[in-house]
Order: sequence, then structure tokens, then C-alpha cells
Amino acid sequence: MSEQTVIQIKALNKTYPRGFVHRYEALKNVDLSVNKAEIFGFLGPNGAGKTTLIKSILGLLKHDSGSIKLFDKDIDNTDVKNNIGYLPETPNFYSYLTAFEIMKLYARLYNMKDSFLTPHPPLSGGQHSESLSDNGGFKGSVDAVIKEKLELVGLKDAIHTRLRAFSKGMLQRLGMAQALINDPALLILDEPMSGLDPIGRAEFKEIMRSLRKQGKTIFFSSHIIPDAEELCDRVAVIRKGQIIKTGSVTELVDTGIVNVDITAKGKITDQLKQGLKDILYSPATSNNQYIFHIKDMGRTNAVLSELMKNGFTIIKVEPVRQTLETLISNMIKEN
Ligand SMILES: Nc1ncnc2c1ncn2[C@@H]1O[C@H](COP(=O)(O)OP(=O)(O)OP(=O)(O)O)[C@@H](O)[C@H]1O
Ligand SMILES: [Mg+2]
Repeated sequence: MSEQTVIQIKALNKTYPRGFVHRYEALKNVDLSVNKAEIFGFLGPNGAGKTTLIKSILGLLKHDSGSIKLFDKDIDNTDVKNNIGYLPETPNFYSYLTAFEIMKLYARLYNMKDSFLTPHPPLSGGQHSESLSDNGGFKGSVDAVIKEKLELVGLKDAIHTRLRAFSKGMLQRLGMAQALINDPALLILDEPMSGLDPIGRAEFKEIMRSLRKQGKTIFFSSHIIPDAEELCDRVAVIRKGQIIKTGSVTELVDTGIVNVDITAKGKITDQLKQGLKDILYSPATSNNQYIFHIKDMGRTNAVLSELMKNGFTIIKVEPVRQTLETLISNMIKEN
């Protein structure tokens, strides 16, 4: 396991009971590694196994076989636990408490005290001890830290509001604030953007980017692919408990170049139509300009020379990429 690897999962299997005799295979032979300071998106449709894997990583579910290491240690290591922030899929808080009071409760669970320099001891002995001690700890009072986190997630005006009066999006924001309370080196977020309006989603993305800049690692699940495309360094796609693709977003999107569009200026003649045969074209916005749509990339040069032979001026040649969303939807369908 490299020094840069924060989560390492090998050959993980997890089954749930189904009826009296059967077991449902929720995770099948999952291999996954997440590196330090990366935003890793765990994508898949409903019921694919995202929450099951997240709960297994956190030790909330027991897996049947395989191994999970966090910072090269087991999840039941207290130092590891102290360095994780977790936003559950459906955060459930005591509704009679205020945002401030619930944060105080979480701070107490992490044993945070005023003027603490390190709320949690850095992982000792491991390769990560140095990096973790760098970002562990805070100065000042616990109350100040709570206010700072609540303000960060946009709950400044609701600090002393009881949670029964919180909207879904506000509860989600509170969930994020509690995940950040202990200044964790690793954040595990199950559908962090669910229930948020577009402004909230943009704010959350900004928070995640700034955490990455501070060297934090973020692992989040989502089925909203455009969010992941914008944010993630790498993604894994899961379908029916199996990882069907892992890679960097750019790598994945590059494999999705399927068509080429050529914009060119000239006159469409019968001779050109003859030469291009089955190539589709459509008028561009400017006069006498057309866009030629090439479905088979291998024909690009032949089409270009045919156009030039017919007196066309080439204005641009551009690859048409599939969005990550189309790519992943196709992958899921194909599998
Ligand atoms: N406690 C459980 N007992 C039995 N089956 C379960 C249990 N939890 C999950 N499952 C099944 O395991 C599969 C994966 O569920 P999981 O909650 O991990 O999916 P998910 O990818 O998080 O879906 P979603 O996007 O809807 O949150 C589903 O088929 C689900 O029915
Ligand atoms: Mg889920």
C-alpha cells in the first residue's frame, strides 16, 4: 500500500439474507483504492451497493470476505476513526436540539475541548502520521469551531434554531457540518448533494474543492453524474454490486470521443454530395457554412480532403465527446 493510499479495498464481498435460505450478493469482489487529497466519486444507480460499501468501509456493516484498510490500518483503530468525517445518506438528528446543541454533542463525542491543539491524536507509527498531524487540530474554543463549521455550510442564521424547523436541505447542510467538526483527514459522504438546491450544490462543491486544497481526501457516493464530472479526480462505477469501471474523469471522457464535427465554408454541389455520400451535414449559423457530422472518426481525413477538393475552407474540426453521464448510462446498460 503506497503512502498516498488512504482507502484500500481488496476482494470485498458482502451478502444480505434474502428470505430463509437465500443470500443477496450486495458487493461482489470489490477492489478499490483512493489516494490522498483526491475527490473520488462512487457512482451507480439506485440499489447498486454504494451505501453498503460506505457502511462497510466505516465498519458499520460486517463484510463476508476481503479486506479494507484506511491509512494502512483497520477501521476499528481509534486513531483512524478519529480522522474520519461521515455524512450518512439520511442524517437523523434529535429534532428538539438546536444546530449549535447537536454540534456540541458531536464535539463531545470526539472529545474536543477548548484550546485543544489536536482534538485527535495523529495516527502513530503509520506512514501517515506526519500528514495527519499536519491537518489535525484547531486553536480556540469548541464553540468557535462549531460556529465556523455551521457558517461554512451556510447555516449562520439558523445556529440557534431547533432542528424540527429545519428543511431537508438545511439538515443536509448540518450533516456536512457535523462531518467536518473533527477536522478529519478523510471525509466519507453518502449522497452529499441530495436535497440541496442548485446554490447549495455549488456551495458544497466549493467546500469540497477547498478541503482538497487542504490535503483532505473525499470519498462520496452519488447517482448525479454531472456533479461528479465537475468535481472528481477519479470515479468508480458500480452496478449490481460489481465495479464495472474505475478511472480518472478525463480518461473516461476521452474514451467517449465518438464523433467528429467539421465546420467548413463553401457551396454544396452535386459533385460534393456524390463524394461525401452518407456523411450527414447541417447548415451552421453563418452564411455558407456547414457542419459535417462524421460518425466514423477514421473517415475524418478523407472527408477533409473531399471538402478541400470541392473548394471548401475548413473552419474547425472538433471531437464530439459523450458526457460522462451518457458514457456511464451506456456502461450500465451494456453490463
Ligand atoms: N439491510 C439490508 N438487508 C437486505 N438487503 C439490503 C440491506 N441493505 C441493502 N440491501 C440491498 O442491497 C442492495 C444495495 O443496497 P444499497 O443501499 O447499498 O444501494 P445504493 O447503491 O446505496 O442505492 P441508493 O442509490 O438507492 O442509495 C440493494 O439491492 C438493497 O435492497
Ligand atoms: Mg445509498
